[in-house]
Amino acid sequence: MNCSAYRPRSVKNESTNPSDRISKATCCNYRFSYIQNIRSPLSVSVSNMVYDLKGKVALITGGAAGIGLAYGEELLKNGIEGLIVADVNEKQGNEAVEKFNKTYGPKKATFIKTDVTKKEQLEAAFQLAKSTYSKLDIVINNAGILNDAHWELEIAINCNAVVQGSLLGIQYMGKNNGNNGGIIVNIASILGLQKLEGCPIYVGTKHFVIGLNRSFGSPYFYDLTGIRFLTMCPGVTDTPLISDANKFTLNGFPGLGQNLAEGLRDLPPQPTTNVAIGLIKMIKDGENGSVWVSEGNQPIYEVEIPDRLTLRKK
Ligand SMILES: NC(=O)c1ccc[n+]([C@@H]2O[C@H](COP(=O)([O-])OP(=O)(O)OC[C@H]3O[C@@H](n4cnc5c(N)ncnc54)[C@H](O)[C@@H]3O)[C@@H](O)[C@H]2O)c1
Repeated sequence: MNCSAYRPRSVKNESTNPSDRISKATCCNYRFSYIQNIRSPLSVSVSNMVYDLKGKVALITGGAAGIGLAYGEELLKNGIEGLIVADVNEKQGNEAVEKFNKTYGPKKATFIKTDVTKKEQLEAAFQLAKSTYSKLDIVINNAGILNDAHWELEIAINCNAVVQGSLLGIQYMGKNNGNNGGIIVNIASILGLQKLEGCPIYVGTKHFVIGLNRSFGSPYFYDLTGIRFLTMCPGVTDTPLISDANKFTLNGFPGLGQNLAEGLRDLPPQPTTNVAIGLIKMIKDGENGSVWVSEGNQPIYEVEIPDRLTLRKK
């Protein structure tokens, strides 16, 4: 990320010693914001700081269909310069970039067939961003499945590949690796914030993403890499992942498919565009480590995860 592209609105829970905090800030604007805002020791507020999407290059895994496709469309609408669509579905991926290039201009989008569970294929997508657009600014680790019947694959896609995509994001965008910094968005779910008995493994994978991202989204990593980590938690959104979900529950548990269908039916649905519009807001002004929910076709909102010490059962 270019040093001037983004300054955090507020920085919480850091050292209360201002000189300590100033010396830790590596981005010039970040440091400037500290100097301007030493009034409050724990919460430093800086207004009107919005990340500019113009000219940026983004990579989306699972970007050929569903919510990932809507993320690509919305980013292009908001002026990004280049988009890598990395998806295992070749037909839908090629159709997606063809449509994008007709609408937003030639070579705006490039497809690469990618199985995110294969490190060399995932890395090839990052290399393609650099060779095609000379840089990379935004990574969205979006590919995910709801399939507890094949939970090893589900964990490989929803967890392992998100870790791999995050590490590659740091390698290809991190200031510690000679780059400009950037943004990594990892996709969780409202099921990362609640239980649902119909799909316990899927629920576990999405809790994983939230813990991973909140921890990467902390001052140590930001100061080293210049990368903001953001978490998106979509609610029930109209894609095949939801409409087919009851076919993919754990084997050997009678009625679990029906149970899941009913559990999902109780949650308010929305179109993919609502999540994508929320993504833009989150990217523009979400704080490093923040977690956001987009559900019920309503505007996106940020959630506050309670401190562990407040959780003791009364
Ligand atoms: N749809 C929802 O209601 C909902 C709710 C919360 C979270 N999510 C999350 O949002 C993300 C996108 O979900 P969606 O509903 O758009 O799903 P989807 O099934 O509509 O699309 C997923 C895309 O990922 C691709 N994909 C699957 N496996 C892959 C692999 N191994 N490598 C590369 N690409 C692969 C598919 O080809 C597809 O294009 C997922 O992480 C999902 O868990 C979805």
